[in-house]
Amino acid sequence: MSVTVDAPRIEHHREPLGIGESAPRLSWRISAAPDGWQQTAYRIELEQRGTTSTHEVESAEQVLVDWPGEPLHSREQVTVRIAVRGTDGAWSTASPATTLEAGLLDPADWIARPVGAFRNENPHSDERRPSLVRRDFEVRDGLVRARLYATAHGVYEAELNGQRVGDDTLSPGWTVYGQRLRYYTYDVTDLVQPGANALGAWLGDGWYRGRLGWRGGFRNVYGYDQSFLGQLELTYADGTRETVATDLSWRSAPSPILHSGLYDGEDYDAREEQPGWSTAAFDDAQWEDVSERHRDPATLVAPTAPPVRATQEVLPVEVLTGPSGSRILDFGQNLVGRVRIRISGPAGTTVTLRTAEVLQDGEIYTRPLRAARSTDNYTLAGRDVEEWEPRFTFHGFRYAEVTGWPGDLDADVAAGALVARVYHTDLERTGWFASSDAALDRLHENVVWGMRGNFVDIPTDCPQRDERIGWTGDIQVFGPTASTLFDVSGMLSGWLRDVAIEQLPDGTVPWYVPVIPAVDKWTPLRPGAAWGDVATLLPWTLYERFGDAGVLRAQFDSARRWVDLLERRSGPSRLWNTGFQLGDWLDPAAPPDDPADALTDRYLVATAYFAKSARTVARMAEVLGLSDEQAHYDRLADEVATAFVAEYVHPDGTMTSDAQTAYALGLQFGLITDAGMRDAAATRLAQLVQDAGNRIATGFVGTPLVSDALSDGGHVDTAYDLILERECPSWLYQVEQGATTVWERWDSLLPDGTVNPGTMTSFNHYALGAVADWMHRVIAGLAPDAPGYRRIRFAPRPGGGLTSASARQLTAYGEAAISWRIEGGQLHVDLTVPVGAEAVLDLPGAGEETLAPGIHSRTVSIG
Ligand code: BGC
Repeated sequence: MSVTVDAPRIEHHREPLGIGESAPRLSWRISAAPDGWQQTAYRIELEQRGTTSTHEVESAEQVLVDWPGEPLHSREQVTVRIAVRGTDGAWSTASPATTLEAGLLDPADWIARPVGAFRNENPHSDERRPSLVRRDFEVRDGLVRARLYATAHGVYEAELNGQRVGDDTLSPGWTVYGQRLRYYTYDVTDLVQPGANALGAWLGDGWYRGRLGWRGGFRNVYGYDQSFLGQLELTYADGTRETVATDLSWRSAPSPILHSGLYDGEDYDAREEQPGWSTAAFDDAQWEDVSERHRDPATLVAPTAPPVRATQEVLPVEVLTGPSGSRILDFGQNLVGRVRIRISGPAGTTVTLRTAEVLQDGEIYTRPLRAARSTDNYTLAGRDVEEWEPRFTFHGFRYAEVTGWPGDLDADVAAGALVARVYHTDLERTGWFASSDAALDRLHENVVWGMRGNFVDIPTDCPQRDERIGWTGDIQVFGPTASTLFDVSGMLSGWLRDVAIEQLPDGTVPWYVPVIPAVDKWTPLRPGAAWGDVATLLPWTLYERFGDAGVLRAQFDSARRWVDLLERRSGPSRLWNTGFQLGDWLDPAAPPDDPADALTDRYLVATAYFAKSARTVARMAEVLGLSDEQAHYDRLADEVATAFVAEYVHPDGTMTSDAQTAYALGLQFGLITDAGMRDAAATRLAQLVQDAGNRIATGFVGTPLVSDALSDGGHVDTAYDLILERECPSWLYQVEQGATTVWERWDSLLPDGTVNPGTMTSFNHYALGAVADWMHRVIAGLAPDAPGYRRIRFAPRPGGGLTSASARQLTAYGEAAISWRIEGGQLHVDLTVPVGAEAVLDLPGAGEETLAPGIHSRTVSIG
């Protein structure tokens, strides 16, 4: 068998066009190699600036190795191939090529300025009609390449000669715009033509100036304008380059979108369309001048992750009729996106779609959406067939109530005229799980759907109500699961840059990033455990799952500043026991109107996290070779752990908060170290679970830990009892109730079928789905054992009556897989270890074994 190297990957990019790194790191997978083969050297072949260079390095590394070439210039294209040499001394043939292209790396590259409509508007109203901007331009013969670099104050969709540019949506996404505004690069070579051309853009308010936040929210968080910033660069065969950039020569007009808001939905009047507006034949004499706004080009950054895109279309499974006679589409799945309609009818007819996650009493139930109108209105132009989908909004919904539909809705639905389009950051799927238990599989599927719906450019709490913001605690607890299911390395490392930017000078990490103004207890910002710890724990998770030490380097200062703050706060006691805390948020015992009122002492939670974060910063320092810092934070972590045990753990291993979350923290954060006390604590935890009839008793903090605390503590059976429980509250209670995503509250839908009366009741929140990572690691038995899965730990712990389970993980080295089944008292296990990695196999009742790359099978007798 010969050695096969796949096309290399550039940093964490799925599409390395318009990248922002001038010295991008390279990774490659070796998809085939003979048994026992190991890489001993690699050769990077670069075609750069008309010459081919080769760079040979004696090394077994294949993940994120340093760029060997000259630093990239703006717009530069480089073709990269990899060959590897193995223990046999032979070089492989070179991999297929990856061609990367740099974006605009120097602020001086930008001549475009943001332009938008010149109009008097009431800045405090949502009734600000979006605009279109456009201009004509000429293209000479001999064009070889055309690139559009684009962004906006607001959100945009560009068009060239009547064609949509790209398939991204809600670009430029949401960053801390003042410091970092993303631009996107499009290859538009095929869209331009010799002669007359036109470039235009639709605009919407988006996050920049649209309404954000609850209790009425805030507008104009980043500015008052709505502007497009575009720079089209035309490169000719003779090497010359012409640039068409947004400036005062552009024209603007009101858009057929009458109103658009992320929460509200969109109102569109097709009679207001101006056919051909983005073509050169269009006469814009009636259009208005634009006004120019300000943008410091030094704040324009290239994306580190794929954009938001439609990734799936879902047809209604049923058309329902409500008691009021309402017509409601059921898409069979709670999803995030929007509905596209194909429609015919008289001009001026308005069709209204109102979305909701749930029904109550047979009608769509919108109370949980709070002040998100979540309604789209389309007014027909009266053409034969009209097709429309809102552009600058998204909804979290399973149901859509349709009113004003001209014609036969049932027949049109049957003909596919109404389809839900699923939108999220177009991440690569990396983790799969299956088992012999259909309910467990549905739970896993719900976690995947919940993640998709809440990875809409930033990691959000929920996708449907007047919130949808980057709550730090939610992604802190869900980070490991997110990193298992999808390749989030680029997206979350980008978002962490914003965490660092938004961090206060004293080290306080905000409750949500990007920060928006908020009323009552959220302003001024205060440090809170589990939320603020995203600054330490999420970089570590990314390192552990993707092998990227660069993210540790980039975030180290932010992480230590958080821990330094806690050190100052706690003082010599080393206990963080003052101030506002959310604690074990949404513990099921907490009343609907006070989700922080949990069984576990909130300061116990705070001190536990303090210790965990201090320890994590020590580990970061270790990887980065910062030995003084390592020693300092290890010492601090020891002190906090000692203080924690003295304050919250009795000598017999029971805890002052005799609650599942308290034990899970003490055990899983390594705070209780005495073996006898650990045993006693784990036994008490198992007892608590049993006493609760296997119902879950943890909130955001305990939920990601409790299953591990049980299975690590020798109570695997109890861990299965907990995850397989179907009574409320439990994971499978939600599944039994027909959930298709993970809910915010264990009982978002109450056992009597009514919606939880809390004002905060989402049916799509990922935090409680954080157990999925445990399902991969412990049920199926596939876990990282060295950064980036360079060593894999296969340690399945069958139980709960399951007869089979499997997991696959697309790692940086290639696909790792495990599949087990029980037959006649025997456990059969099939395993795949990718080339470049190794594995440790740990089967129940058998010793540990090291596995080399390749395919393996084992059988052991079990009970
Ligand atoms: C959000 C959460 C968040 C919490 C913190 C909620 O409104 O949806 O998931 O972490 O507030 O208080």
